[in-house]
Amino acid sequence: MSSTPIDNAAIEARVKALLPAERQLYAERRPKARAMAERKGKGLFDNVPMHWMLDWPMPFPMVIEQASGVHLTDIDGNAVVDLCLGDTGAMFGHGPEPILEVLRNTGHRGLTTMLPSADAEIVGELLAARFGLPHWQIGATASDANRFAIRVARAVTGRRKILVFDGCYHGAVDDTLVDLVNGRTFSRASLLGQVVDLGETTIAIPFNDEEALRGALASGEVACVLAEPVMTNCGMILPAPGFHDTLRRLTREHGTLLLIDETHTISTGLGGYTMLHGLEPDLMVMGKPIGGGVPVSVWGMSAEVAEGLDRARRARDSHGHSGIGTTLSGSALQLACLRASLEKVMTSGTYATMAARTDIIEAGLIKAIGAQGLPWHVTRVGARLEVVFSSEPVRNAGEAREAASSVIEEGLHLSLLNRGFLLTPFHNMILVSPALAEAQAQALVTAYGEILARFCQAGEAA
Ligand SMILES: Cc1ncc(COP(=O)(O)O)c(C=O)c1O
Repeated sequence: MSSTPIDNAAIEARVKALLPAERQLYAERRPKARAMAERKGKGLFDNVPMHWMLDWPMPFPMVIEQASGVHLTDIDGNAVVDLCLGDTGAMFGHGPEPILEVLRNTGHRGLTTMLPSADAEIVGELLAARFGLPHWQIGATASDANRFAIRVARAVTGRRKILVFDGCYHGAVDDTLVDLVNGRTFSRASLLGQVVDLGETTIAIPFNDEEALRGALASGEVACVLAEPVMTNCGMILPAPGFHDTLRRLTREHGTLLLIDETHTISTGLGGYTMLHGLEPDLMVMGKPIGGGVPVSVWGMSAEVAEGLDRARRARDSHGHSGIGTTLSGSALQLACLRASLEKVMTSGTYATMAARTDIIEAGLIKAIGAQGLPWHVTRVGARLEVVFSSEPVRNAGEAREAASSVIEEGLHLSLLNRGFLLTPFHNMILVSPALAEAQAQALVTAYGEILARFCQAGEAA
């Protein structure tokens, strides 16, 4: 243990000194991926399909040959244990067997017809039983589902605005891509091709701020509050005790619908945060792992919202496009994968395994942080863990941004990757799939402890 207390600025300096060697090691082990990255001019975005794949904290992207269970193998033959899991798309492991079985055996019955398959009824019943809302619709991505649910909220309430929490991410959904700057809501500064001022339609307030919530809802123009139950895209921000009760009470008082996005917090356990903590949303969205990795999302509605939607549809004088749903939404393939996922993948046994492995990692990280006297803490929502670089839990995005350090994140990310563990990029998240073995959880803790010791010793040597 270090003799003097260590602060984040000192750790950043130490990490900066260590990073060149970590980058070099990463690159030396990946000559094929490096050659791909250096063959310019082949792809739209420098040889990777999506431009943001170049934004990971790696000198160049590792190129995946095979993903199975918790293992990734790259084209250079490096094997790593995956704790990013496609940022939740593969939360239940890469290629869960029941999903592979659907892909092998069910495809011949048809992939997409723009009509319901026989699985539709069963999937509707499974979703209602699991998540508590009676009416469900399908999308391809969580972004889709959020867009459609927001449109429904506006159609049902006849109101223009939505409210989100500063630091949120709900996908490529225009209305939600905003920043809160000096108390005002603006289009997010990083957006490309943004022509509409999103502050016109969206109000952002800090998470856990009951006063700001009360003030924003009082105008009576807010169709819905769209919220993750635990904020997971700006570090990890837990709700303060009683915040969800207040949120529900105030939204009801002001005729505002509550739309809960469980895309990430579905890590909490069976039925998501909503069921485990007794939330009572009017609308709910899930995507990413819900179909075991196949592009499918779901959005649910209460009976009142479904009735309101029905009224709004009947009141239209035209039968043209509603702006809800896309051609491949609700395809036979999606329904078959959803059914297999709900019946055989997302089971209580699966969640119990995830929780047991996460317990090991959480306890190990707390010990490793304590051993170095680091002013950090660990937050958790079910199988999702975040190491936050502050001694106290953060309450909103402002505090989360203050605690963040891209340098320390890069140091952790690359050091762990060079020891065989892949973290989620852009923050410090560890996601635990049921495919992670106990020994792998222990090995992660050991590697984490060694890395933290190195971060704390490097400066002393320098
Ligand atoms: C909470 C939340 N909702 C929705 C989305 C959008 O998911 P997708 O990119 O699959 O549309 C994300 C993506 O990270 C998310 O974190």
